[in-house]
Amino acid sequence: MMNQPLLQKKDNLTSIQSARLSFPALDQSVNDHPLVYFDNAATTHKPLSVLKSIDQFYSSYNSNVHRGVHSLSEKATEQYENARKSIQGFINAESAQEIIFVKGTTDAINLIAQSYGRSNIQAGDEILITEMEHHSNIVPWQILAEQNGCKLNIIPFNEKGELILENLDQLLSSKTKLVSVVHASNSLGTVNPIETIIRKAHLKGIPVLIDAAQSIQHGKIDVQKLDCDFLAFSGHKIYGPTGIGVLYGKKTLLEEMPPYQGGGDMINYVSFEKTTYNELPYKFEAGTPNIAGGIGLGAAIEFFQSYDINSIIAKEQALLKYGQKKLLEVPGLQLIGTAENKTAVFSFVLKDIHPHDIGTILNQYGIAVRTGHHCTQPVMAHYKIPATVRASLVFYNTEREIDFLVEKLHAVNEVFK
Ligand code: ALA
Repeated sequence: MMNQPLLQKKDNLTSIQSARLSFPALDQSVNDHPLVYFDNAATTHKPLSVLKSIDQFYSSYNSNVHRGVHSLSEKATEQYENARKSIQGFINAESAQEIIFVKGTTDAINLIAQSYGRSNIQAGDEILITEMEHHSNIVPWQILAEQNGCKLNIIPFNEKGELILENLDQLLSSKTKLVSVVHASNSLGTVNPIETIIRKAHLKGIPVLIDAAQSIQHGKIDVQKLDCDFLAFSGHKIYGPTGIGVLYGKKTLLEEMPPYQGGGDMINYVSFEKTTYNELPYKFEAGTPNIAGGIGLGAAIEFFQSYDINSIIAKEQALLKYGQKKLLEVPGLQLIGTAENKTAVFSFVLKDIHPHDIGTILNQYGIAVRTGHHCTQPVMAHYKIPATVRASLVFYNTEREIDFLVEKLHAVNEVFK
């Protein structure tokens, strides 16, 4: 087995070697085998600090935010708004007003489609996406297209699963009103050169939305340095709770956008004649928010930042290299998505064995993988396959777990001999 990179313990940062100990759910047996959790692109497990922060909210200061003058409500508001500030610092947004709490990446993209899209994109205009988008960065635009007659344009990818950008200048036409691209593909692992895409789009004055659902947990994102106009991510993929996520937007753009949903908290004054809206970010946060989720996400960001990001990247990249080599030792295994720059996502097919059968057998050994089209049916259509098996790793995974997966894939081959 390859040596794990020695992870620098600098200042008061936590050692990655002990990261697993923070995750109670990783320490269990499934079907009489120690759990090997390789479904992190679907959702990551939660560290104790996140679980405790949610428990504390409900068991001690459970209250609604932004409304009450009583102590519990004040504390809930303070913790919720502190989480927003943590997230602002984490992605280096200029202002906390640019951090909108949403349900997740899907919700964020729908918000942009229905608010920014409906007011800035007309019939005949184009939205540029890529062939490797998750359905959540395709369907909201198709709904918008049905509403207003705009069109989708697609950046294709090559056999390795890398975007073909030679024709990007032509694809960015005078009709293009928005570019919406995935940073890291959930089914291929490809990390796209979003810096180039943003720069080229901006040369033509076109705003860019980044789907960071599969990248936020694998590196450092600085929205000011990237100069993206919008960016979306989900809390549950970066060790936080489900049902909470973030839409970042440049304040100047968010100010101009109409509300997405109406209700409590998003108004300034309501009368039957005329209603005025609240300031940012509340204009986009109608109704009682996911308070526990926001606080839990704040705790998750703090947990993530307690590690040296370069150590996380080094560990995950070492797992990627190791896994790529080991998996190819399995006769008949074909990796789908072999980009030079990718996350530790192994999508694969094995001979003509159905991915669901492979996933079912692996589960008998306590190995959790995802099988199916991974909400990227155009990616499956590209490779002319219905589905893949996907093992997606994060820094709490180990090379020993990869060895166990490989061993059991040999066993799958035996079953279907
Ligand atoms: N989008 C998530 C995945 O790739 C659910 O599994």
